Amino acid sequence: MDLMEKVVSLCKRRGFVFPGSEIYGGLQGFYDYGPLGVEMKNNLKRLWWQWMTVEHENIVGIDGAIITHPRVWEASGHVKSFVDPLSECKKCHHRFKTDDLKDNQCPDCKGELTEPRNYNILVPTELGVIEGEKVKTYLRGEACQTIYLDYKNVWQSSRLKIPLGICQIGKAFRNEVTPGNFLFRQREFEQWDLQWFCHPSEMDKWFEYWKKARMDWYQGLFNHPENLVFFEHKKLAHYAKKAFDIQYQASPFDGSEMEGIHWRGDWDLSRHGEYSGQDLSYKDLETNETFIPQIIETSGGVDRTFLFLLLDAYRKEGERVILKLNPKVAPYKVAVFPLLANKENLVNKAKEIYDSLKFTIKTAWDDRGNIGKRYFSQDEIGTPWCVTVDFQTLEDGTVTVRDRDTTKQERLPVDKLLAYFQNKLK
Ligand code: GAP
Repeated sequence: MDLMEKVVSLCKRRGFVFPGSEIYGGLQGFYDYGPLGVEMKNNLKRLWWQWMTVEHENIVGIDGAIITHPRVWEASGHVKSFVDPLSECKKCHHRFKTDDLKDNQCPDCKGELTEPRNYNILVPTELGVIEGEKVKTYLRGEACQTIYLDYKNVWQSSRLKIPLGICQIGKAFRNEVTPGNFLFRQREFEQWDLQWFCHPSEMDKWFEYWKKARMDWYQGLFNHPENLVFFEHKKLAHYAKKAFDIQYQASPFDGSEMEGIHWRGDWDLSRHGEYSGQDLSYKDLETNETFIPQIIETSGGVDRTFLFLLLDAYRKEGERVILKLNPKVAPYKVAVFPLLANKENLVNKAKEIYDSLKFTIKTAWDDRGNIGKRYFSQDEIGTPWCVTVDFQTLEDGTVTVRDRDTTKQERLPVDKLLAYFQNKLK
């Protein structure tokens, strides 16, 4: 089994990610997050949100609707040009995204490929119940458009001044022609976006700032930060001066986008101003200057980050599978066990400790099998610390705390446990 297969199998077996609609045979490009996956994904989203909105005083968040007025997608250019060129093999009829192909030969059977054809990947939907009166619109193809629609409401209601940021975590939908690679290319996925609005004269400065800040943020979560690299786009949108991707560059992905840092200039606000007939300019009350703010976007994939973190964390040491996840990201931080599940006094004491931790720190309880199996089981889901209650606990009020990565054990007083873990998680 290669690394990806091992991770996919672990995800299903331990409840991180399940194939969507599985009992009906599945639906390509859709996945469900299970009990552990949703904890890990929420941890990631909380970290991102905290960093954006708490650690930057001039960034605020929104949570916009998934369905917007259909004109939004005309103004944004998606109706006309949100297309994926697709080539088909004339021999085996497999289809490929033309952008992913290295030459004009089928990667599967080396057959000849057709000329690329363009397919629009917006997901259409209809609103209304009466035939003939239904309105066609789209599930949003990128989350950022709602930020542009709300930008004026945000700065007017929040009294923020430019430069300011509006961030959002939310779903996006694309009729991907070749969904695949597990969570990498889905038809429903989640994006975390920052749109940074600034004065045109400050674009270069802020672009460099966000490029570095986003890379630093991601690197802080990975065991191998050196596997994250910048990729500079040579082919640029007509309004862009520069564009970079933060890529994950390790098996089985040899350079795949996790986040894009895009120079969007005044393209989006100008287009929405034109299509909506509204004035979306900004007036600087100190200088009296009126201008359309320019935008730098950092747009990343929550699911891709989740997947790359699992690939980065997966280890096999002998029989032991370990997910070396950053403790802040791990679904559970601590697991508590009684040394023996049939000794009532040990179980009661362990339950008491579990109850004292569980409201503050995500804590697992496990009293199945033997202690070795419980360690294995927690290692496999990335729990950084295991607390074991033994006979000595009943005598002197200390427990063993075992570290996932080093497997070293230390004895700590029960009343110091919470502070110990909180300190580690800082
Ligand atoms: N607003 C800009 C935008 O949407 P993008 O590069 O198309 O830019 C941003 O998407 C991020 O969304 C990507 O870097 C990637 O992490 C994630 N993403 C895009 N398409 C995806 C898909 N089909 N499945 C999972 N994640 C995807």
